[in-house]
Amino acid sequence: MSINDKILKPSPSALKQAAESIRSGKLVSFATETVYGLGADATNGQAVAGIFEAKGRPSFNPLIVHVPDLEAAKKLVTFEPLAEKLALKFWPGPISFVLPRKDSCPVSELASAGLPTLAIRVPSNEAARAFLQAADRPIAAPSANPSGKISPTKAAHVAAGLGDKVAYILDGGDCAVGLESTVISVQNGKVTLLRPGGISKEDLEAVAGPVAVAKADSKISSPGMLLSHYAPGCPVRLNATQKEDGEAFLAFGPGFEEIADLNLSASGDLKEAAARLFASLHELDKLNPRQIAIAPIPNTGIGSAINDRLKRAAAPRN
Ligand code: TXA
Ligand code: MG
Repeated sequence: MSINDKILKPSPSALKQAAESIRSGKLVSFATETVYGLGADATNGQAVAGIFEAKGRPSFNPLIVHVPDLEAAKKLVTFEPLAEKLALKFWPGPISFVLPRKDSCPVSELASAGLPTLAIRVPSNEAARAFLQAADRPIAAPSANPSGKISPTKAAHVAAGLGDKVAYILDGGDCAVGLESTVISVQNGKVTLLRPGGISKEDLEAVAGPVAVAKADSKISSPGMLLSHYAPGCPVRLNATQKEDGEAFLAFGPGFEEIADLNLSASGDLKEAAARLFASLHELDKLNPRQIAIAPIPNTGIGSAINDRLKRAAAPRN
């Protein structure tokens, strides 16, 4: 298929095609009012891993999950009263809320990078809304550009940067806002601005009173960057090939059958390993081992993002 055949105007039949693609685990880029998103079924860990792979991201940042309306959002995260008030005021629109995941939240842990919170947004672009309705599941989507490149605001930008990585590009025209959504956290009646964007601090303050601004290097504003953030409760030993006393062993690939408590991917598939990484660490942590030992992970492709996270998990605690 040529690149141009992948660019679809959001007709009912095109939306159906794109929705089927995303439900089968493929990547679909779609227009939003902020920037074009690189979407994957947020409940499918391997599909979410595909996002990081396609972008060539060297690490797993938590992603924004897109839903068609507030009702759908409430199935995933808990809205305290102020969060609901802000959502009623600004959704659909260019603002994402970081809120506690519900226990029943079906979103892959990779999408929220193992965090107890989830960033969620209802976009206003008509093509985006129609797509989310048709997909009928939450869609994780960062901007649809290769890591380190400029965010796309036209279908042609996506085609040029990631055309070979997506099944379709839903063309909803040029992005009206043109820069990523505002990201806020709402906790105990307080709003913290994590990323400035389409909705300004003043807009927020008119509804919520004083808004704090997170420092760029704070734990909450850049959760992915914090060295020991992803650490389980016990120490972590990397590049392990033997299991020592009191350890839980997290394997990768064949040959560990005797000692593995869990295997990230018995067949040695890095994408499968990425999809299972955070859930596996949580599961082993629950066994209360003295230490978690982790088999070597090849440092190629998405393996380098896995190793980035593992290094953080094994870093000295602060
Ligand atoms: O406009 C947008 O938001 C675009 C379009 C496609 O909707 N999407 C986007 O997604 O920019 P992404 O994944 O590139 O941005 C995620 C932002 C990052 O700043 C990340 O640190 C923050 O949201 N974030 C996500 N989950 C978080 C969490 N649980 N806690 C704190 N920050 C979080
Ligand atoms: Mg981006």
